[in-house]
Amino acid sequence: MGTGRTFASILLREQGAYLGRSRSGWAPHLEAIRSFLGEGLAEGPGPALILGAGSGLEVPWALAPPGTVGWDADPLSRARTCLRHRIWPPWVFEDLTGGMRDLWETAQRTVRQPWSGRVRATRATSRRLAGLVRSLDPVAAPLEAWLGAHRPGLILSANVMGQFGVLAQRTVEKAFRGSSPWSAEEEDPLDEALREWTARAVEAHLRVLGATGAELLLVHDRGVIFGDVRVTLGPLREPWTAQLEAAGVLEADDPLGGVDVAGFFREREIACHRRWLWRVAPGQTHVMEALRVRGRALRNPA
Ligand SMILES: C[S@@+](CC[C@H](N)C(=O)[O-])C[C@H]1O[C@@H](n2cnc3c(N)ncnc32)[C@H](O)[C@@H]1O
Repeated sequence: MGTGRTFASILLREQGAYLGRSRSGWAPHLEAIRSFLGEGLAEGPGPALILGAGSGLEVPWALAPPGTVGWDADPLSRARTCLRHRIWPPWVFEDLTGGMRDLWETAQRTVRQPWSGRVRATRATSRRLAGLVRSLDPVAAPLEAWLGAHRPGLILSANVMGQFGVLAQRTVEKAFRGSSPWSAEEEDPLDEALREWTARAVEAHLRVLGATGAELLLVHDRGVIFGDVRVTLGPLREPWTAQLEAAGVLEADDPLGGVDVAGFFREREIACHRRWLWRVAPGQTHVMEALRVRGRALRNPA
């Protein structure tokens, strides 16, 4: 199976699971993200680019300027968007990180015995893979090339950056063909290497977006909280964990590998920065973050 098809099948499965979930607690999240993205789209001077456009559940396409392009590597994303919004926008189906192919091929080579093709799911294999993953550099080349050719004035990131790390994990798990690549150790070297890979992928992605000078509307999982401890958000504070107010001990994960997105755009005007909680499922609450980064041309008209 080719790498593109492997990634597509992973995305199909993830998106199927996402859309198949009970959405009973999703209304406040959907309202918040649609109104945030909708404001940007309604003001947009020209066609926008929507990254992680998915099935359009979170994207108010009716407000998108004509010619707005969706970007999502899930092969069913545009068709699902069409069913939901009755439109057929231009679309890009490439991997946004530009690094999933390398990751898959590296995992395949490391895990498979060259003479039999069988999987070597041992601690040594996981450790060796961890070392190799550390040398991989996802550079967002397809996105950079597309942006260079099309130069959109407005780019929306619709809840996709927090997926880079999860999908990297799924890619590695797929190479292990049902055997677990993870160890029960507190510090799993492969888990740690993928966390660092994720941070490099997120940084490269932000660097490419920032270099365009376009207005950016970024929405992403800032954190994931596991368990049923009651949690609320206090006033906006950094790091995001300092904003959590809970009666008990929280188990929290950082899907962005520790990258501070607002800090990344310190040199630019941040017109809006807010966070809200999204109770995705029992025992799983996401801390969502929305940032509006002003375009360079708007800030320094000269
Ligand atoms: C949480 S969903 C967002 C849902 C979407 N905003 C909507 O309104 O339906 C994340 C989306 O990002 C896409 N995605 C994740 N990683 C990707 C990548 N590396 N390249 C391209 N698309 C990706 C998935 O296919 C999925 O549709």
